[in-house]
Amino acid sequence: MIDVVLGLQWGDEGKGKIVDVLTPKYDVVARFQGGPNAGHTLEFNGQKHVLNTIPSGIFHSHCINIIGNGVVIDPVTLKKEIEKVTASGAVPLNNLYISQKAHLILPTHRLVDAASEANKGEHKIGSTLRGISPTYQDKIGRNGLRVGDILSSNFKQKYNQVVAFHCAMLDRFNFKYDLSEHESAFFESIEFLKNFKIINSEYFINELIKNGKKIIAEGAQGTLLDIDFGTYPFVTSSNTITGGVCSGLGVAPQKINKVFGIFKAYCTRVGSGPFPTEQDNEMGENLRKIGNEFGATTGRPRRTGWLDLPTLKYSIMLNGVTDLICTKSDILSGLETIPVCDAYEINGKITSEIPFSLTDDKIIPQYKNFNGWSGDLSIIKSYENLPETFQQYMSFVEEQIGLKVGVISVGPDREQTIIR
Ligand code: GDP
Ligand code: IMO
Ligand code: MG
Repeated sequence: MIDVVLGLQWGDEGKGKIVDVLTPKYDVVARFQGGPNAGHTLEFNGQKHVLNTIPSGIFHSHCINIIGNGVVIDPVTLKKEIEKVTASGAVPLNNLYISQKAHLILPTHRLVDAASEANKGEHKIGSTLRGISPTYQDKIGRNGLRVGDILSSNFKQKYNQVVAFHCAMLDRFNFKYDLSEHESAFFESIEFLKNFKIINSEYFINELIKNGKKIIAEGAQGTLLDIDFGTYPFVTSSNTITGGVCSGLGVAPQKINKVFGIFKAYCTRVGSGPFPTEQDNEMGENLRKIGNEFGATTGRPRRTGWLDLPTLKYSIMLNGVTDLICTKSDILSGLETIPVCDAYEINGKITSEIPFSLTDDKIIPQYKNFNGWSGDLSIIKSYENLPETFQQYMSFVEEQIGLKVGVISVGPDREQTIIR
């Protein structure tokens, strides 16, 4: 059986931490989409680890970690990541498996990403500039290169063809670049990756399921960044929702069991795009500082705002969430009042439905104010010992959503997790 762990907001909900906490009960962790635009943070034994492409089960030696076909892989980033986790005691040579059908991010994909963003000017998406969108475009356009191609004798020829196409694009953008330095690192990393288990992952995973193994499908980004249902065009280029698990790993829908949906007790977003409950003010600045809301991949400051129930309900519906997990409630400690948005006013009408475009319509969030709590939540071990005002806040969320919040994360460390 496969259980899914994914984000219900705009990414950075704490997926890495939660996967790491759940992994002891599982045999396999498999990433199903996204690429090194992701930054998943794990903390244990006083050490912090950030993963971009490698699944978050890598530090558990019993756990098989699969980079699925739905993921896009930058060999240069992946090599660096492998070296980093190896230095921290993981043994990816033993427990990392890579799908031969995962697409490759080429150095020119990154350049095209940069050129395209520069060309958009003030309308830019705020991409992580990791080449994600151009790589998925080539996949859908049937021009892409896949991991399995690196084993073929004419790989260089295939590579040159795609690169010629990209160079023509870069010329049209009038974009200046020097490819030579990037290319040597790329081919060196390709050779390095040949040492790892490059597999037919759809057969591999289905065989594991048949043998009764327990699998986590680890999502990247968040539901509101989904290519179909996110705040388009300010989204990423893959399906971040549960539906993406089937195509991103090659498993049938009836193999999916639980869906763990993670939300922060407030909201954050990196890059451009609509954010109805954003606090672009001193309060938001405080949340950013206390919550250390800076991108795990790019270091960019994250925009911050209040919990938004209309989008949360939408995400829960799209993903078929069965188990809710709330993170970072410890960050809200010390606030006198905590607003929660439970509806929007759009054109004079109150609604909790997400409109076609969050960008064009003027949305006025409607808030309910809750009494805040104080003290250090991160040392609390049981739900009953959490402040009463916190429990009131959670009860309201649960009532609105119609699901219980089964796990409350109260700090970045593995140990700072309350399971009800
Ligand atoms: P991901 O992309 O969803 O894996 O999340 P990120 O790692 O990008 O961002 C989440 C950040 O919050 C990381 O720095 C985590 O270490 C941290 N974090 C996760 N859960 C908690 C929590 O409950 N409390 C606090 N204070 N930090 C948390
Ligand atoms: P994790 O897995 C937060 C955002 C970018 C940008 C938009 C498109 O750590 O939650 P892309 O590089 O995908 O073309 O950028 O999506 N974005 C993320 N924001 N967390 C992420 O991943 C993100 N991955 C992409 O900031 O707005
Ligand atoms: Mg992140």
